[in-house]
Amino acid sequence: MDKQKQIVMSGIRPTGYLHLGNYFGALRNYVKMQEVYPCFFMVADLHSLTTHPDTSFLKENVHRVLAEHIACGLNPDLVALYCQSHVPETAELYLYLNMLAYKGELEKTVTFKDKARLHSENVNAGLLTYPVLQTADIILHRASLVPVGKDQEQHLEMARNFVQRFNHRYGQVFPEPQAFNFGNELVKVPSLDGTGKMSKSENNLATLYLADCDDTIRKKVMKAKTDAGPTAPNTPRPDYIENLFLLMQLVSDSATIQLFEEAYRSCTIRYGDMKKQLAEDMIRFMAPIRDKASQLQKDKSYLEKIMKQGAEKAGASAAATMEIVRNAMGLNYY
Ligand code: TYM
Repeated sequence: MDKQKQIVMSGIRPTGYLHLGNYFGALRNYVKMQEVYPCFFMVADLHSLTTHPDTSFLKENVHRVLAEHIACGLNPDLVALYCQSHVPETAELYLYLNMLAYKGELEKTVTFKDKARLHSENVNAGLLTYPVLQTADIILHRASLVPVGKDQEQHLEMARNFVQRFNHRYGQVFPEPQAFNFGNELVKVPSLDGTGKMSKSENNLATLYLADCDDTIRKKVMKAKTDAGPTAPNTPRPDYIENLFLLMQLVSDSATIQLFEEAYRSCTIRYGDMKKQLAEDMIRFMAPIRDKASQLQKDKSYLEKIMKQGAEKAGASAAATMEIVRNAMGLNYY
C-alpha cells in the first residue's frame, strides 16, 4: 500500500497521569507521524471502565490527558484528537467483532490474565473483550499503523486475527493493522526500581510522570536501584543498571552517555554522579511539557473545543466505515 495513504490510529487510557513510558512508547511517534499520515488519536475512556468503574475522576483525567497530548507536541488541527465515547460507532463495530472473537483466545491474552489477577473482584466481560474493543477503535478508521509500546504487541496480533476473520467472511474491507515505532523495536520504558515497566496506576514511586515537579523527578531518579559498581572490566550490566543507561539514552546527549559507558567499562563509574546527571537531563526534557500541560488544563473551553472538533473528524470517518461494514455484512435491508 502507498505509504502516504496509510492511516494511523492509537489510544491512551485516562486511568492516571501520563508517564515517560507513554511518551516514548506512543506520544513521541504520534508527534512525528502527524506530519506524514492522516492520524486519529484518542483518549480511551471506554477502555478505562474495564478496570476503573469509579468515574469520579474521569472528567479531570480526560482533560489532563488531552492537555498532555497537546503539550507533547500534538497539533489538534492536523490530527483528529478525540475521546472514544464521543464516537458511538465504536460500540457498534465492537459488537460485530465480538462474534468473531473466541472465548479461548481472549482468556489466554496476557493483559487479561494480568488484569484479572490485579482486579480479581471485577473480572467483567469488558475486560475479557478488551482487545476486541481496541480492534474496533483501530479499524473504525481503516487504520493500518498503530504507534504503541511493546506491551500492546499481543493486542495488535489479535487485531490482525479479527481482521482476517472479518475479511474472510464478509469481503476485503479492512487493512491488517501493525504496531509501529520509528525505531526498529517497540519500546518498553522500564520502571526505576528495575521491576517491570513504568505504569499509570501501579508502582508510582518508580515511574516518572509528565506532571512530576523537578524535586520529585530528582528524588525518584536518585532512589533508583544501583549497586557498588563493576569490579572487573567488561562485566555485563545487571538489569537495573541497564535500565538507567536506557533512560539516559532517551533524554541525554551522546557525549554524556559515552562518558558513563566508558566509566562503566573501566570500573570507575559513580552511580551517584550518573543519577544526578540523568535527573537534570530528565528535568530539562520534562519540565516544558509539564508547564505547558498545566497551562492548557486551566483552559476548559479550549479543551472542549478540541474534543468537539476531534469528535467531528473521527465521527465522519467512522460513519463512512460503518456504511461499508453494514453493506459488507448484509445488514442493509432497504
Ligand atoms: P495505555 O493507556 O496502557 O498506554 C498508552 C500507550 O503507552 C504505551 N506504554 C508504554 N510504552 C513503553 N514503555 C512503557 N512503560 C509503557 N507504558 C505504556 C502503551 O504501549 C500505549 O501505546 N490498550 C491501550 C489503549 C488503546 C489503544 C487503542 C491503543 C485503546 N484503544 C487503539 C492503540 C490503538 C492501552 O491500554 O494503552
